[in-house]
Amino acid sequence: MEKSMLHVPGPSGQRRPPCRQRIGPSPGSVEAKYDLKENIGAGCYGNVYRGIRKMDGKQFIIKSTTSEVDSNVPGYPLPIPIEVAMMTIVRDPPSPLLIKLQEWFLVKVEKLPRGKVCKTIMLVMEYLGPCRTLEDFLQKHQHLEERVARTLILQIVKAAQECLRRKICHHDIHDCNILVIDRPLQIKLIDFGCGMHICHDPKKYPPDTRISPKKAVKNTVKQLFGIMREIEKQCSSIPEEFMAFMNTCITLGDDDQRLQTVQQILDQPWLKNQ
Ligand SMILES: Nc1ncnc2c1ncn2[C@@H]1O[C@H](COP(=O)(O)OP(=O)(O)OP(=O)(O)O)[C@@H](O)[C@H]1O
Ligand SMILES: [Mg+2]
Repeated sequence: MEKSMLHVPGPSGQRRPPCRQRIGPSPGSVEAKYDLKENIGAGCYGNVYRGIRKMDGKQFIIKSTTSEVDSNVPGYPLPIPIEVAMMTIVRDPPSPLLIKLQEWFLVKVEKLPRGKVCKTIMLVMEYLGPCRTLEDFLQKHQHLEERVARTLILQIVKAAQECLRRKICHHDIHDCNILVIDRPLQIKLIDFGCGMHICHDPKKYPPDTRISPKKAVKNTVKQLFGIMREIEKQCSSIPEEFMAFMNTCITLGDDDQRLQTVQQILDQPWLKNQ
């Protein structure tokens, strides 16, 4: 066997194949490789389309957006737009709860006043088939069964935990940045454009792209509570004790020992005894 084919387990003893996906921008243009179809969503920063890869007819989601903030990622020497950096980190290893980046294209680089730069980029992401935002899902289902509310909340908390595990804080968890697939019920967290690295070291990442571990947990729990309150409006059977626990969490000070990790939410009896 060739030496390059050997896979040596890491220190944890777990076998994980190395990530072979390109981190930098793909060569050429997105239009050369994909047919852009209908617009399926628009946010503050860009437009989102369904796209078909010309080579094999496979469907993808293509988001056109701009970025003024660059960051680095471990193992890649050049700065890349922060949204790409975050999505690169969450795809290795991939999680079924986090949207997966396939590749990205750099469309335009504009110089702004005060040495700033604005990059126009195209992100190519996995296509999920029929799905809707959590906001639309809650509008359609005015009376949610407890079982459905619990499944949604459990998956959303786990998605947030997956980000924190990868040392990133999503920073923008709300009902338009969560997609819901109906059968079987599954969520995907999207839109990593406001994400930050969880890190204390000022030398490792630029200041506007990093957040301390404590602040990251606090911000995440606050945003999770916001979502839970939205879900609670359509489901009267979420136990009061669970919401009271969440309410206590968001009022705790930064250094309060009572809230250290998102796991504490998952350990609440209502979520644990599924
Ligand atoms: N992978 C995807 N699959 C299906 N729909 C998607 C996907 N990504 C984005 N969308 C749709 O496009 C909308 C905008 O996408 P996204 O939130 O990534 O963009 P944005 O411009 O950063 O938005 P924001 O206003 O939250 O900053 C989403 O709310 C959703 O409706
Ligand atoms: Mg969004």
